Amino acid sequence: MQLKSKAVYITGGSSGIGLACAEQCAGSGASIAIFARDKKRLRDALDSIEKHRISDGQRIKGYSLDVSEPDDVDRVMRNAVSEIGPPFILINSAGLGGAYHFEVLPYRRFDQTMKINVYGIRNTVAALLPHMKGGGGHIANVSSIGGVIGVFGYSAYSASKFAVIGMSECLRSELKRYGINVSVLLPPDTDTPMMRSEDATKPEETKAINKSGGLVSAEFVASALIRGLEKRRFMIIPGFKGRMIVLLKRILPAIPEAVMDRTIRKVQTG
Ligand SMILES: NC(=O)c1ccc[n+]([C@@H]2O[C@H](COP(=O)([O-])OP(=O)(O)OC[C@H]3O[C@@H](n4cnc5c(N)ncnc54)[C@H](OP(=O)(O)O)[C@@H]3O)[C@@H](O)[C@H]2O)c1
Repeated sequence: MQLKSKAVYITGGSSGIGLACAEQCAGSGASIAIFARDKKRLRDALDSIEKHRISDGQRIKGYSLDVSEPDDVDRVMRNAVSEIGPPFILINSAGLGGAYHFEVLPYRRFDQTMKINVYGIRNTVAALLPHMKGGGGHIANVSSIGGVIGVFGYSAYSASKFAVIGMSECLRSELKRYGINVSVLLPPDTDTPMMRSEDATKPEETKAINKSGGLVSAEFVASALIRGLEKRRFMIIPGFKGRMIVLLKRILPAIPEAVMDRTIRKVQTG
């Protein structure tokens, strides 16, 4: 994709999949704006993105914001647009993971998951759409394979990621008239700080299901996203295994359910 002198905005660009996207887009000559809460992580990420730049003309900037706070998002996005111009690509990667038995999942965690993963995308799209309308471009929302198949332990996370796909389908048809292409990314389990931090509360059943799916790298997911955007794909699913799971869930949902049930039974009966 021709990204030279184009701006790419990435929420959650300070870590994991968002950071890998920022590095790859910087390597194609784009100006980059990354958005996340933690200022130190933003600074470290900027150092690493800088190493991928290919020209002095690229602007690479980080902005601290909480995507779940609409006023914060409006203010910070206006500032970013005035500093580096409107986005040609907006990647909504900011997200909160976490696997819990529903019975021990606190209300606050459920609420926070929805506010970051669902409202966060609503807030950034609402803030940036007026600036993108004249110039077309792409919006990519990060969902998950857990956004088409509800997995043991992910009652909050899967609920939020199902919602991301629904919202993206609506945006896809609504924003066509502005020449804005909307995609939704469904990564499989990816080796990132989020994945590593889940272990503390992850039920054994979830660990067993995750283990059978394997793990890909953030760089692999970022490359698949960029290729998918180039081809103007709506649903972008990195890797053959992920594509098969989504296909099976659509045409023969009893099969992935039976496979997961068997794995869960094995763990529960020792
Ligand atoms: N890793 C996986 O296995 C996997 C699989 C499928 C889908 N995904 C999805 O991929 C996306 C990226 O995940 P990742 O694995 O790369 O996670 P990660 O390494 O933990 O990165 C998450 C990023 O989101 C930012 N963030 C979190 N809450 C935020 C908030 N309220 N406001 C602004 N920024 C916020 C974090 O920075 P701060 O904490 O500093 O704000 C960080 O930059 C998420 O949407 C996730 O659900 C991940």
